[in-house]
Amino acid sequence: MREANETSAVSQASTIAVTRLTLSNFRCYDFQRLDLDSRPVVLFGKNGAGKTNILEAVSLLGPGRGMRRAKAGDLARRDAGCEEDSGRAWGVAATVETNAGPVDIGTGREETGRTGTRERRVVRIEGETARGQSVLADYVDVVWLLPQMDRLFLDGAIARRRFLDRLVFGFDPSHATRMNAYEHSLRERAKLLKTGRNDDRWLSGLEEQMATKAVAVAAARKDIGARLNILAVDGWGPFPGAQLTPTGLIEGWLDEFSALEVEDKFRAFLAEHRMVDAKVGGAKDGVHKSDLLVRHVPKDQPAEVCSTGEQKALLTGMVLANTKALALDRGRLPLLLLDEVGAHLDEDRRKALFEAICDLGAQAWMTGTDAASFDALKSQANFFNVETGSVTRVS
Ligand SMILES: Nc1ncnc2c1ncn2[C@@H]1O[C@H](COP(=O)(O)OP(=O)(O)OP(=O)(O)O)[C@@H](O)[C@H]1O
Ligand SMILES: [Mg+2]
Repeated sequence: MREANETSAVSQASTIAVTRLTLSNFRCYDFQRLDLDSRPVVLFGKNGAGKTNILEAVSLLGPGRGMRRAKAGDLARRDAGCEEDSGRAWGVAATVETNAGPVDIGTGREETGRTGTRERRVVRIEGETARGQSVLADYVDVVWLLPQMDRLFLDGAIARRRFLDRLVFGFDPSHATRMNAYEHSLRERAKLLKTGRNDDRWLSGLEEQMATKAVAVAAARKDIGARLNILAVDGWGPFPGAQLTPTGLIEGWLDEFSALEVEDKFRAFLAEHRMVDAKVGGAKDGVHKSDLLVRHVPKDQPAEVCSTGEQKALLTGMVLANTKALALDRGRLPLLLLDEVGAHLDEDRRKALFEAICDLGAQAWMTGTDAASFDALKSQANFFNVETGSVTRVS
């Protein structure tokens, strides 16, 4: 019953689609325009042709630093042989079909001159400059799956924590503000401890800030973990069920104690560890040390002991569950960016993924070096051939 309700709610979510994308002085592109319809998008071409750069441009239509977390300066087109920020203006403009009709969204950097260091990117909605980029969350959600994420379960906790925080941020952009405030107080406390001045009032103030923000961050992570589990645990066709557990000192305490009790406990913990933290730097524990544990449900084993292909299938299932969860939460589908989507997936899984995308009705942007690997999507997608710095629509 629950499943039937969810399926119908997801199928009622509207498709958000880019119907025109224009890049100016962006990465390897001088000027490039793509006209397309709301179906999925296939970008094929040789290595280094400029496929991922297009996905990155689309990722900037949502709030945040985009899928490569690049600085605004790195996004400007550099001339061959030049490794520094050219100081050039760059822009990404798009017409996006939203539930409220087409909206023109633009983002970029204005000319800074060679010595310019202006980092903040400007956002324009319907030609009007917005006060910040958070307004983008009113129009577009973006979810990505990148080749670098193939090692998510094998590498250290930092990447998994970032992945988890990105999931939370997708539902609640103010998560970034919470996390930044926590990290700011953590750095200030570390600086103060380093000076050796044991200014109790000042330290207590910073620890108070850390405690309240830590509880908010951990609670948001647990909430999103629980919401995603409902959709991820059963899997999707050949994409196995996943169980996500945000873990860490604060996350664990929240299982046993109330939020206020956890704040008190963490404040006491920080005060107790001042001497150690003064010696080692940073803070011994907190939400900056948390991790995300993922289990492969059918095999009942941790993700990291699964094969490369199994891990990719697990991660793909998690991305599909996240897409569904966003559709249920927002009533609209996110743009999906699937870079080198075929890598590590066998033919059946690749086909199943294309089917899932078409069933969801999401505009998925997919890249690959070989057009033939997308044959199953023929007549169901916008196909573009990408050659060094130029993109041509083929069907
Ligand atoms: N700021 C920039 N200015 C000019 N060129 C850039 C800039 N940033 C990246 N490039 C270049 O853009 C080119 C295309 O990169 P991109 O990552 O889009 O390739 P790709 O088609 O995804 O290749 P692959 O199949 O290997 O993943 C690369 O040669 C890269 O060096
Ligand atoms: Mg690429």
